[in-house]
Amino acid sequence: MNTTPAHLRVADAAAIARAGEIIRAGGLVAFPTETVYGLGADATNDKAVASIFAAKGRPQFNPLIVHVPDLAAAEQIVMFNPLARKLADAFWPGALTFVLSRKDTTLSLLVSAGLDTVAVRAPSGTVAQKLLAAAGRPIAAPSANVSGRVSPTRARHVADEFGETIDLILDDGATTLGLESTVIGFDGDKPVLLRLGAIAREDIEKIAGPLAAADKKISSPGQLINHYAPRAKLRLNARNVKPGEVLLAFGPQVPDGAAMTLNLSATGDVKEAAANLFAMLRELDAGGAQAIAAMPVPERGLGEAINDRLRRAAAPRA
Ligand code: TXA
Ligand code: MG
Repeated sequence: MNTTPAHLRVADAAAIARAGEIIRAGGLVAFPTETVYGLGADATNDKAVASIFAAKGRPQFNPLIVHVPDLAAAEQIVMFNPLARKLADAFWPGALTFVLSRKDTTLSLLVSAGLDTVAVRAPSGTVAQKLLAAAGRPIAAPSANVSGRVSPTRARHVADEFGETIDLILDDGATTLGLESTVIGFDGDKPVLLRLGAIAREDIEKIAGPLAAADKKISSPGQLINHYAPRAKLRLNARNVKPGEVLLAFGPQVPDGAAMTLNLSATGDVKEAAANLFAMLRELDAGGAQAIAAMPVPERGLGEAINDRLRRAAAPRA
């Protein structure tokens, strides 16, 4: 798509005000956060929340993250415990999502997809915060991609995937972090890591102590399914290029032979690699190659979350 669709607008004050009206009227708005673009609707409106599931083709059992301006707003919809509060003080607004027990509120039951918990996050992205203020209510928003596909880090990714089915897309350029938020739940007061994400495990563990792994009792339904799938096959831990492959490189030493090479970070910086990951996967995929070879990324800091996404992208398709 080379023309700018009418519903894609630069996220200036007028566009954000309009987006707030659309949310209040039950419509769908795609908006940038510091992590990825979200597909937002009024979290208190059942019909609006249902339309998110419909637009994404998202399974009804996969609950949504509710976005709020701050901890005070989050405490109105879920029960915080002392550790969650401490982590919110350290990382909010920011890329950390908490799964906590629902309070009895006007929040749509659909956001929980049948669970008695709600995932909440106060994003730090300026446009996201302004939109929350304009809408004046919590906004339910999964990543703005068709279910099972790569998350969007540019407004254009959203426009390409959804065409005119969204009422408005707020464009604020590339998102800064490029990976979705880290999701934490609790087993009693023990913290459980439900999804690796844009805040590194080590940074959370400095405050929370060791994070338990998700299990059958406390888990994230969205993590069970095959996800982040490009059209091309993905080959992990590649140190060379096979015929017909394009290359997702990492670091200064890059093998030759690929028809197309994109480097996540030529200096080997995992943060830069995280910010580039989804856009580069999309770009390599768009070239129509049969297979993408991905070089190894070190399992430190955000490298752990990058490798998680790459493994899912490489998993056999459901
Ligand atoms: O950075 C992000 O988190 C982005 C931006 C838009 O905020 N959002 C995002 O949403 O990545 P989504 O829907 O693509 O991923 C939400 C994840 C899913 O794995 C979902 O299963 C999990 O959070 N989740 C949501 N509510 C949950 C709940 N009540 N219990 C367990 N897991 C939950
Ligand atoms: Mg998603």
